[in-house]
Amino acid sequence: MDYGMGNRLSRIIKPKDGKTVMLAVDHGYFMGPTGGLENIGKSVTPLLRYADSLMLTRGILRSHIDPKIDIPIVLRASGGTSILKDDLSDEDIAVSMEDAVRLNVSAVALSIFIGSKNEKQGIINLSKLVDKGYKYGIPVLAVTAVGREMTRDARYLSLSVRIAAETGASIVKTYYCEDFEKVVETCPVPVVVAGGKKTSEAEAIKLAYDAVKHGASGVDMGRNIFQSEKPINMIKAVKAVVHKGISPEEAYNSIYNI
Ligand code: 5RP
Repeated sequence: MDYGMGNRLSRIIKPKDGKTVMLAVDHGYFMGPTGGLENIGKSVTPLLRYADSLMLTRGILRSHIDPKIDIPIVLRASGGTSILKDDLSDEDIAVSMEDAVRLNVSAVALSIFIGSKNEKQGIINLSKLVDKGYKYGIPVLAVTAVGREMTRDARYLSLSVRIAAETGASIVKTYYCEDFEKVVETCPVPVVVAGGKKTSEAEAIKLAYDAVKHGASGVDMGRNIFQSEKPINMIKAVKAVVHKGISPEEAYNSIYNI
């Protein structure tokens, strides 16, 4: 692997254990002012010292993140739709690789929508972004299975992550499911798991624990961290589960100092 790409990837997935806790705050690119992110400076800045990387849009990166903070950036590079549309799959590449270089990011991220009417568009966009990324040594993270009516089972998720990896993604983000090890086993690149809609802290921690136990390289978690009543304690708990393998019960108790 090219040095630049390998170096950037190792900033995201930590070489000491091959794991990562990515903090995702890119939701606004199609959801607008998502709950918990209305004032990103206030809600996200205190979490940065605990996250292994930060996934966000260039607008928020430029407006709210101090360039002196040492945190690897995963830049949301796809867009073009909003939650007001029935179909979220009509995305395109929305950021140039030159701007990603200017922002000194460690990876760029793009969603694909396997099975949707814009399936081909997403895959071809991923392919184009990978080509551009290789030019500058910037890896691409493919986000799979976002959408309202998806059956997120192992069969569908394996298909989605494998297509993402075959198209050239260096990391694939997907959802946790039953038989998750089958999803990971058939994917040749690291798989990270999204947190999904806000659930209880106990459930979100268990999700992170189960995902890693069944082969995930970590999580790319958003709402279950920044919408938690105790976001700092929550990200610390998720980190302990992912990097130290502590039990979900111990991690949950640590949030409330039980
Ligand atoms: C949306 C995304 C989000 O980053 C992703 O869904 C992670 O956040 P959450 O844990 O809130 O689901 O890629 O397309």
